[in-house]
Formats: sequence, structure tokens, C-alpha cells
Amino acid sequence: MLGSPDVEAVLAWSAGRRDELPWRQTRDPWAVLVSELMLQQTQVARVVPRWHQFLERFPTALVCAQAPVGDVVTEWAGLGYNRRAVNLHRAAVAVVAQHGGVVPDDLDALLALPGLGPYTARAVLAFAYERDVAVVDTNVGRILARQRGERLTARVAQTFADDIVPIGMGWSWNQGLLDLGALVCTKRSPNCETCPTSTTCSWFCGGSSEPDPAIGSAAVSKGQSKFIGSFREGRARLLDVLRTGVEVAPEQFRDACGWNEREGGHLDAVRAADSLVRDGLAIAGCDGALSLP
Ligand code: ADE
Repeated sequence: MLGSPDVEAVLAWSAGRRDELPWRQTRDPWAVLVSELMLQQTQVARVVPRWHQFLERFPTALVCAQAPVGDVVTEWAGLGYNRRAVNLHRAAVAVVAQHGGVVPDDLDALLALPGLGPYTARAVLAFAYERDVAVVDTNVGRILARQRGERLTARVAQTFADDIVPIGMGWSWNQGLLDLGALVCTKRSPNCETCPTSTTCSWFCGGSSEPDPAIGSAAVSKGQSKFIGSFREGRARLLDVLRTGVEVAPEQFRDACGWNEREGGHLDAVRAADSLVRDGLAIAGCDGALSLP
């Protein structure tokens, strides 16, 4: 039917595809939660080795919850968007305190965990507990908007996605849609010729005319802002120095941020230090020196 993905065709296209991704070979909800948080802003190829390494260090929510949050931040090095590490630790603490150490299999309980939004909560349900819920990330949001041929609000995208999950197939269906969005129905140059569901795609069948309905749809991200030269880059450098296990005194902030040549570098470095503390990524001693929490 025009406007709704061809379920059989998508399932046939995705069968066996990328089954080797390690988080697809487990149903351990902790391991799945770790993978989904890592995958939110980081590419699959970079996540694979780090996911293994992380789970060796923190094989369960309990081990993670018992470690200092600074250890989790250190283990997160190179993955970017470091607040995810603090959130994961907070989630682990809540899982231990409220759920006996088992990541819950209930949507409301998952949504109540720190740092888990609608996407991550449903990803745990679909990929660990094989529930027929719909996982809507930016890739899936793009597919749905193009299928319908119109911009979708987050609520409409989620409802539409919920309505089309094939019964008993939630795991395969969601993994398939994620792959379709990542590999075929891409943001800039979708490969409609090889798409298993181009025949139902309102946008494609209407001649792929501008504007692309995925642009401006609520579930579709606008992309990451530039990192090089940004405030985030200096802040990440400061955090990397803390990860080596040293304390950084206020007079060293600017150097640690790599901002000796930057106009206003000192003030920006103080702001970077403050924001690390605010985000739970660092603690400040009474002399103002930073260290990992
Ligand atoms: N991106 C987000 N979740 C994913 C998954 N389970 N497999 C591949 N890419 C993903």
C-alpha cells in the first residue's frame, strides 16, 4: 500500500544482514542498553570494539553501579558525547536500586531510568526482550516521512511506526528498518533503485521532488554541529587530560583545552570546566582544581 513500507520486502531484504554485529547476537538487556547508548551518536564501526571492551570492564549493571562514575567516563574515551557515560552510570545505579540489577522489561520503568528516552527504552524492549514495539531513531524517522510523503511530528511518527510492526517480528523488523535507513534510505543520496520498499514510497513514487519530506520531520536529526574548533572540542580535550588520572588546576585549564592561542581562551576554558562539573563529568576541589568524579 502506498505510504506504508512493504513488510515482506523489507524483512526479505534484511534477513541475515549485519547479523554479525555483536549486539545482535545477545539478548542481555544490559549489553543491549550499552550498545544502544553508544550507537546514538557514534558510528557502528567505531562502536564494535568499544562495546566489547566496555562489557569486559562492566559486564553487568551491578559492576557498573559499584564503580566510580569516573571509571565509566574513562572507559568512554573516544566515543564522544560523554554525558552518555554519566547517564549510563546513573541508569546502572537505578537498575540496581530499583530493579535488583536487571534492566527492566517495561516501557514506563525504562523511561523512568536516567538518560533513557523513547528511542533507547523501546530499543531495549525490542532487541533484548523481543517485544513488538517500534524503535524510531533518526534513520527510521526518515524512512517513515518519505513513505508517507510528508513531514511527521514525533508523535505521528511513533504512532505510525507502532502500527506497522509485524506481530512476533519486532526484533527483525526494527533491526531491518535501522539498516535500511543507515544503508539505503540515507539522508543525502538515498539509493532508491535498490530499496526494497520504493514501490510504496510516496516520495519516490511522486518523483522525489523537493523538498524531501524527511527534512524538518521531528524524529529526524539536523546532524551534528562542527566539532573542530568548537567549544565542545576544547572541553573534550580538558576531559581527556582528566582521564589520564591527574588533577587540573584552574591556571592549567586553558592549556588543557588547547586554547593558548584562542581569543578569550581563558574565559572559555573556565566555562568548559564549569560545564564538565555541571554535567557530572568532573568534580572541583575547594582550590578549584578538577578531577574525575
Ligand atoms: N543503530 C542503533 N541501533 C542499532 C542497531 N541495533 N544495529 C545497528 N545500528 C544501530
